[in-house]
Amino acid sequence: TVSPALLCALPKAELHIHIEGSLEPELIFALAQRNGVALPYDSVEALRAAYAFTDLQSFLDIYYAGASVLLKEQDFFDMAMAYFERAAQDNVVHAELFFDPQTHTERGVPIGVVIEGLTRARREAQARWGISSALILCFLRHLSQASAFETLEAALPWRDHFIGVGLDSSELGHPPEKFAEVFARCRELGLHVVAHAGEEGPPAYIWSALEVLKVERIDHGVRAIEDAALMQRLAAERVPLTVCPLSNVKLCVYPHMSQHQLPALLAAGLACTINSDDPAYFGGTMNANWLATFEALPQLGLAEARKLALNSFEASFVDEATKAGWR
Ligand code: ADE
Ligand code: ZN
Repeated sequence: TVSPALLCALPKAELHIHIEGSLEPELIFALAQRNGVALPYDSVEALRAAYAFTDLQSFLDIYYAGASVLLKEQDFFDMAMAYFERAAQDNVVHAELFFDPQTHTERGVPIGVVIEGLTRARREAQARWGISSALILCFLRHLSQASAFETLEAALPWRDHFIGVGLDSSELGHPPEKFAEVFARCRELGLHVVAHAGEEGPPAYIWSALEVLKVERIDHGVRAIEDAALMQRLAAERVPLTVCPLSNVKLCVYPHMSQHQLPALLAAGLACTINSDDPAYFGGTMNANWLATFEALPQLGLAEARKLALNSFEASFVDEATKAGWR
């Protein structure tokens, strides 16, 4: 086993964090009050008590309700600063943040308000804690491809504020190929492309994320373990998997952390990383994920810890010179 102190002290990159999923109940209530938004919960405790999920959709319903308190540029700034402060404590030195513009634009919040608040926080976090970061714009897959195209158009005046696009929200029934054209357009624009696949969805969704969307990383991807040919492809091409262990347990992908397939995925040569997904909802930040994973899975030792940290830097979208500096 690896000492918790060593796991916590390892420098790491976080590549799968939905910034809206970092919104703690206390901040949800504070922002609700500041903005005059009514919440269907009486207290922080009542809200937290609702965080008992049975699957992805049961979580998403509450996650979108929580995001309803975000209205102003300052709200997005405050949310991201609270994330960066905790990330710095966890020795996260680089973070690539997902954000869900459609969750906000559907409520009348201009996309520029979202992007500028997050960007101001990124700059402040770099200055205060030396954390480098980037934004990845996610399309909500339960909405149409036309809506994704509209979102892309609306975001293009801020093209230099984000490095890529992703695909999140309800996976089952919304396969990657639903977004083939908008992802092709994003690739033409020189954006990085990633997608959630194989969290609840079948290995076929990982295949189509690779072959149709031509993604550079798979978010989650744990169900790859069910398909030997897919495992070989992912290992041969070193396609990174951004694995989120506490998320998988909270959303009942696995009944218990001791059943998590991370050791098998790593042993098969896949470029796995550990990430927090939605830390406010799933019981912890980056280091909480590392600690829970290593505690429940004694197959993971020092060699695996080093590999996971190294993978997080290799899988990031920073330039080669920056990567060389990290090595
Ligand atoms: N949005 C926020 N977290 C998500 C997850 N784990 N899967 C899909 N969509 C999400
Ligand atoms: Zn996610």
